Amino acid sequence: MRIGVAGVGRIGTMHATNLAALAAVDEVLLFDPVPGRAAQVATLTGGGMVPVGTLDELLAASDGVLVATPTDTHPEVLRRCLAARVPALCEKPVAGDLDELHALAGAVEAAGVPVLVGFQRRFDPAVAELYRRIRAGALGTIYQVRAVGSDAVPPDFGYLPASGGIFRDLLIHDLDAVPWLVGEPVVEVYASGSVLVDQAFAAADDVDNVVAVLRFAGGAHAVLTGGRHDPLGYDHRIEVLGSRDALAVGLDPRTPLNSLEPDGPRVAADAYPGFPERFHRAYVSEMAVFVDVVAGRAENPSPVRDSVVSLRLADACEASRRSGAPVRLDETVEARA
Ligand SMILES: NC(=O)c1ccc[n+]([C@@H]2O[C@H](COP(=O)([O-])OP(=O)(O)OC[C@H]3O[C@@H](n4cnc5c(N)ncnc54)[C@H](O)[C@@H]3O)[C@@H](O)[C@H]2O)c1
Repeated sequence: MRIGVAGVGRIGTMHATNLAALAAVDEVLLFDPVPGRAAQVATLTGGGMVPVGTLDELLAASDGVLVATPTDTHPEVLRRCLAARVPALCEKPVAGDLDELHALAGAVEAAGVPVLVGFQRRFDPAVAELYRRIRAGALGTIYQVRAVGSDAVPPDFGYLPASGGIFRDLLIHDLDAVPWLVGEPVVEVYASGSVLVDQAFAAADDVDNVVAVLRFAGGAHAVLTGGRHDPLGYDHRIEVLGSRDALAVGLDPRTPLNSLEPDGPRVAADAYPGFPERFHRAYVSEMAVFVDVVAGRAENPSPVRDSVVSLRLADACEASRRSGAPVRLDETVEARA
């Protein structure tokens, strides 16, 4: 099988490397408009990668295409994949605007071409197992969910004005994963935020530490926290408490958290420094699942239509933190089981 990668910047290079390591992938084709970039990545990362000169060439020669271009180009590149009837995995966010996202979801469904969205939590083996156990009823009635998503160090401040704000940029991952896990519509959100890390966030009309409370249709609640600085490392955890079990993901010897209990864990020297390390297994699995979907061996676990849920929730959280009031969501905000 030949898989194309459109855009070989930071994340595209990582995905191309993981794709090249899969037994089912014979060749990884690379396209990037920056002259020499695709050829350089092909050389740097070793064998099995071939640079091509245009997106049309990439589409014509690939069984599936991974879209890792800058966010504002995703709708156009994705439409080119649909026109060529090439299955795609598009990095998140598929579109920054709800109308555009609705239109794209409709276009994908009308074309009948599989398109996966790169919300990597859905592909993380531990999160996928949590999803499987919830669907199998192993947790019973879900009472509460807690999710933590903290960067170790803030992003480059120049990145902030175009980031869409902390809910669209950082919390969006858990605003996707948590409703997907719970499998019920969110009916109300309340969110709050502060600037505690650096005034550059205030200058960008953003905040750097947030909490969001989601209320699900069945009465369960989720509390999501996120921030732009953690002195111990990159932290992502999800804990689910149900009537039959309590499960956690992201709790392992590299979790950046010191226990004060005599026998509790101490933070390890190799605590996760960033998302690439924390989600290494998820990114590897994401490529394997993509290839399986292209081959018709697997269902799409992250369809474009689901991205509407997380984007609407991110916007509702932003509105709530600005107004200080809870925001109710209508029935069109659905989590897909
Ligand atoms: N899921 C995740 O954890 C995660 C993490 C980081 C980034 N991302 C997403 O991945 C995307 C890329 O981010 P990045 O940090 O790798 O950016 P980047 O700027 O490092 O790389 C983007 C690359 O795309 C190329 N490019 C620009 N226009 C193109 C086009 N029309 N066709 C093909 N290539 C084109 C650029 O030359 C560049 O090499 C963004 O949408 C970002 O939000 C997702």
